[in-house]
Amino acid sequence: MKRLRRNSEDPSKPSDPGIPSLYSRDLDRKCGNSSMRLMGVFVVCLMVISVVFSVSVVLRDPPSDGWAFAEARVLEVNPKTVTGLEDGSSPSVEQPKDKLLGDLLIDGFDERSCLSRYQSALYRKELLHKPSSYLISRLRSYETLHKRCGPYTESYNKTLEQLKSGQHTGPSDCNYVVWISFSGLGNRILTLASAFLYALLTNRVLLVDPGVDMPDLFCEPFPEVSWLLSPDFPLINQFDSFNQKSPHCYGNMLKNNNFANSTGSLPPHFVYLHMAHDYNDHDKLFFCDQDQNFLQKVPWLIMKTDNYFIPSLFLIPSFEQELSNLFPNKETVFHFLGRYLFHPTNPVWGLITRYHQAYLAKADERIGIQIRVFDTGVGPFQHVLDQILACTMKENLLPEINMQEPIVSQLGNQRSKAVLMTSLSSGYFEKVRNMYWEHSTVTGEVIGVYQPSHEEYQQTQKQMHNRKAWAEMYLLSLTDVLVTSSWSTFGYVAQGLGGLKPWIMYKPENQTAPDPPCRRAMSMEPCFHAPPFYDCKAKRGVDTGELVPHVRHCEDMSWGLKLVDRQEW
Ligand SMILES: *[C@@H]1O[C@H](CO)[C@@H](O)[C@H](O)[C@H]1NC(C)=O
Ligand SMILES: *[C@@H]1O[C@H](CO)[C@@H](O)[C@H](O)[C@H]1NC(C)=O
Ligand SMILES: *[C@@H]1O[C@H](CO)[C@@H](O)[C@H](O)[C@H]1NC(C)=O
Repeated sequence: MKRLRRNSEDPSKPSDPGIPSLYSRDLDRKCGNSSMRLMGVFVVCLMVISVVFSVSVVLRDPPSDGWAFAEARVLEVNPKTVTGLEDGSSPSVEQPKDKLLGDLLIDGFDERSCLSRYQSALYRKELLHKPSSYLISRLRSYETLHKRCGPYTESYNKTLEQLKSGQHTGPSDCNYVVWISFSGLGNRILTLASAFLYALLTNRVLLVDPGVDMPDLFCEPFPEVSWLLSPDFPLINQFDSFNQKSPHCYGNMLKNNNFANSTGSLPPHFVYLHMAHDYNDHDKLFFCDQDQNFLQKVPWLIMKTDNYFIPSLFLIPSFEQELSNLFPNKETVFHFLGRYLFHPTNPVWGLITRYHQAYLAKADERIGIQIRVFDTGVGPFQHVLDQILACTMKENLLPEINMQEPIVSQLGNQRSKAVLMTSLSSGYFEKVRNMYWEHSTVTGEVIGVYQPSHEEYQQTQKQMHNRKAWAEMYLLSLTDVLVTSSWSTFGYVAQGLGGLKPWIMYKPENQTAPDPPCRRAMSMEPCFHAPPFYDCKAKRGVDTGELVPHVRHCEDMSWGLKLVDRQEW
């Protein structure tokens, strides 16, 4: 391996001293040492601490669910918790500072049934942007709508009856978007966020096909009423067979001119929207205002997609104003929707927090490297390894190594970096780890390299596989610096949840490492891989990546679209 020149200006941050002692210091401050002997005060202290650290259940009432116990203990020594308290300008200890993520979330959920919901803030940096007050108010009104229209409510039962009987009894009280569980986990997270935003924009209720494992991976995001479609939903067994040829497929209906005589007649009870990557020009008319006008009258929209289609919603004129009110910062769309919707269930949260505590929490800096190789054949490939090293060293994300005789490093407070690698293969991780084991770094930094799992091939539906995949995306989102692979929805989810602008490694062509190996992303937004290129008004093709400043072509896919904020690119 070639020795690469390093010219980092990266100032070494001193590590946080005294982390272990802060817990007791805080306890002393809040309660006073001597009063600790008084039982009554002690209980009050525990209650105060409990709110801060969420350990009350451990101390007073060990839950039957072992997960809760494990996670709560992790939090006692979590550095972020302590930092949060130290930095917290507010002297009040009623709540961890940003447990509700700037009011993106509401209080009042049962904490134990979904620990991640209110604990996630403890593992993350402060939000860079605050959600707009308009977004917050729309989320609150959505929650009210969902409570009124969600599964097994009176309104739901009524529209379900109409759907079953085929009878029209006037306009329906509640309208729905049903999201079909489809494709790999990264795609599903992106499409669910897309479907939710579409529901917000059209005053519909989002219902989720549980598929094989949705309830195993994600907590309920809305209060009181489930987002999961009820098992008695009449069309639920047809979801797999819905395709572009289905009679109720919107594109197919347009193609066959089934609406030719619909003037004055009643709209269908439901329409299937085929929005997968192979959708055709008729299906793509979904992104036209005229078609949205029609779809507005259909109570049930059933959607199958594997794409993050939000960028094209920004090109629909009737949604423009609302979207701009919801998201003054365009590149925070998935960031906020993702943080609002996707809370890992307790088993997944256990995977995340235990791993974080064991390997990542103590490092001065965390670097995520997400590797997805689309080449056929079994890796690891030398050109991919070359690309990873070229990118991380050129961009000063990782230090170079000393190729001279081994230098025995001094004992002391060396700055440490934890590298979290995710890949289906373990080969890259082993090479990078061995490199930093066999050689010292020119900066004296200590580099730990970790990879949670290597499943060798992508399995789309297996339970533990997807739990781990979700945990890995989330762990990547907790890093300080992120390097991702082109085209990977796994990386998009991590960068969006983490609020990170990653370095994207270009897709290797012809088995060679590209030069330059990577570039910084324009925004943290995911890329829409299969956008329409159609001007609905002019009824002809158009480059939709050139229409407005905030919808551009992606760094990693020349025909894809993504949201960006500034136009300096
Ligand atoms: C809706 O229907 C379900 C089952 O058919 C029933 O259990 C539930 O009570 C109904 N809800 C209301 C509000 O009537
Ligand atoms: C539309 O209605 C007219 C007159 O009722 C009929 O002749 C025609 O066949 C219908 N077209 C379709 C596509 O159903
Ligand atoms: C790919 O590599 C082969 C052999 O190295 C070379 O002959 C070919 O021209 C390359 N193709 C492209 C598109 O670069």
